[in-house]
Amino acid sequence: MDDALRQAVTLLNNATRVVVLTGAGVSKESGIPTFRDAQTGLWARYDPTQLATPEAFRRDPKLVWDFYEFRREVMRPAQPNPAHVALAQLERRVPQFTLITQNVDDLHERAGSIHIIRLHGQIHRNKCFNACQGEPTYIDVAALARDRAAGPPTCPHCGAFVRPDIVWFGEGLPAQALSAAQSASAAAEVMLIVGTSGMVTPAADLPYIARQSGAALIEFNPLPSAITPIVNLHFAEAAGVALPRLITALEERRGE
Ligand code: OAD
Repeated sequence: MDDALRQAVTLLNNATRVVVLTGAGVSKESGIPTFRDAQTGLWARYDPTQLATPEAFRRDPKLVWDFYEFRREVMRPAQPNPAHVALAQLERRVPQFTLITQNVDDLHERAGSIHIIRLHGQIHRNKCFNACQGEPTYIDVAALARDRAAGPPTCPHCGAFVRPDIVWFGEGLPAQALSAAQSASAAAEVMLIVGTSGMVTPAADLPYIARQSGAALIEFNPLPSAITPIVNLHFAEAAGVALPRLITALEERRGE
């Protein structure tokens, strides 16, 4: 076992409160593109200001809706990968475990993770653009009779367009989720940071909150991120390789 792995095992074995922050990189090995990877990232190919803001939706609801329908199609065949599975396994070993994700797919749930805080919404869910019955007013699009080629369906309560339940640029995060994420980060003894560029706040502030409260930070990302300068350990590898190895090492240590 190399030294970094040994240190990570010791930190996790001694911790009661562990928090994990995940980003798009954790789902990359499931075939879902990230946002900022050169060439393959979504924002390398599409302009987020035209597709991921409330103004863009007001301007061209069909363009924005069709973009999210396209992303749903890309995600449809995706299955949890060994990184998602390893994080679900880790949760079962730790007394107080919180998984904070920026991802809008459902792969953490499907891998068996339980205590999940979603900061940026859930792409398979939809809501009324006007939040006519309160924020959020979820709409079951599958239950609506509609022409799929016609763009966004309309809210059965008020007639406004239906939009994906995603936090767009310029919008606030769900307040309860954010405050739970901040509290968990402040209380963490160890935080794992997996597959995020650390470019989008307030999610990217969470490692700083944890660090300031004395947590050890362990990063899993093949490339350096904006968070790398403050981490204690950086595993510069794909999460689907490094996280299962960590779980195996934890199990071996327990067996010693
Ligand atoms: P980014 O696309 O900004 O960053 C993905 C990170 O994953 C990069 O640092 C990659 O190096 C890393 N990565 C790539 N492959 C990996 C692998 N196999 N294992 C581990 N890491 C890998 O994605 P996020 O940081 O999640 O917002 O982006 C934050 C937010 O920006 C997203 O939630 C999204 C976007 O606009 C919303 O949807 C609201």
